[in-house]
Amino acid sequence: MLSRMKSLTLINSVESDLISCKDRGLAYGDGLFETIKILKGNPCLLAYHQERLRQGLNRLGFSQQAITTVEAHLTASIEAAIQFAINLDSACCVMKWIVTRGEGVRGYNSSGADHPTVIVSVAPYVTDLAKQKQGVRVFDCNTPLARNPFLSGLKHLNRLEQVLARSEWDGEEYAEGLMLDTAGNLIEGTMSNLFWVNAGVVYTPDLSQSGIEGTLRRFIIQSLSETGQTVQIVTLGINALKEADEVFVCNSLIGVWPVVQFLDCHWDVGSITLDIQKRLDEAEV
Ligand SMILES: Cc1ncc(COP(=O)(O)O)c(C=O)c1O
Repeated sequence: MLSRMKSLTLINSVESDLISCKDRGLAYGDGLFETIKILKGNPCLLAYHQERLRQGLNRLGFSQQAITTVEAHLTASIEAAIQFAINLDSACCVMKWIVTRGEGVRGYNSSGADHPTVIVSVAPYVTDLAKQKQGVRVFDCNTPLARNPFLSGLKHLNRLEQVLARSEWDGEEYAEGLMLDTAGNLIEGTMSNLFWVNAGVVYTPDLSQSGIEGTLRRFIIQSLSETGQTVQIVTLGINALKEADEVFVCNSLIGVWPVVQFLDCHWDVGSITLDIQKRLDEAEV
């Protein structure tokens, strides 16, 4: 029965599509999410996703009891989601976790809201191999990212900046858009992290004030450092890209997309970008 359906959603470990209209995730974006690739039944970078979620729950002040509840629901639901993914005739699936603080009592005050909502869904995912191979053009977004060290790095549910930025362009010409913070520093794509290469050195923006600390970004930094190549984490404006030899964006679902055009800059798919794609393929993350 389950294997004939194309997607599965579990809420607090029970198959369902319904949450309360009093849920604080809906009312205030009071929660976090993760999007995980499942490749041939293997959830990629699972430990990184679990760690980022746990850090986020702590940062948002979820109680230890609530965190224990979240982890118990996740453990049960992930197992069911993986089994569902294996039964689908799709080598690649996407699993999404949404964790909210649950139903609120009244107003912003979160005291008493200690029964989190844990939503786990899984559906087939088609990898865009053409974009990975040929690269993408990237739009120059106007919408800025606010600077806030209390929220930076987290994959929290307040994503209005990305929604506004993504509405700045339509159609197929651009696959991604680049976002700066309110001080004009390069931060990331609307749904991805940003890297560039200049004279053999790999750079990525500092995310201590804005942006999401991507799991794939972490994998890339770690993987390069294991072979003695340190990624430089920098606070720089758009001119840094104009001087770059290679540029790419990445996230846990799309993998690594070489950037071939941004504003009046054009790049070929570079050798370091290709090397990072290869490392990723080999690690199957
Ligand atoms: C705004 C933003 N930045 C970065 C990322 C990359 O995160 P990850 O590598 O964990 O997918 C995402 C992923 O959706 C994102 O939406």
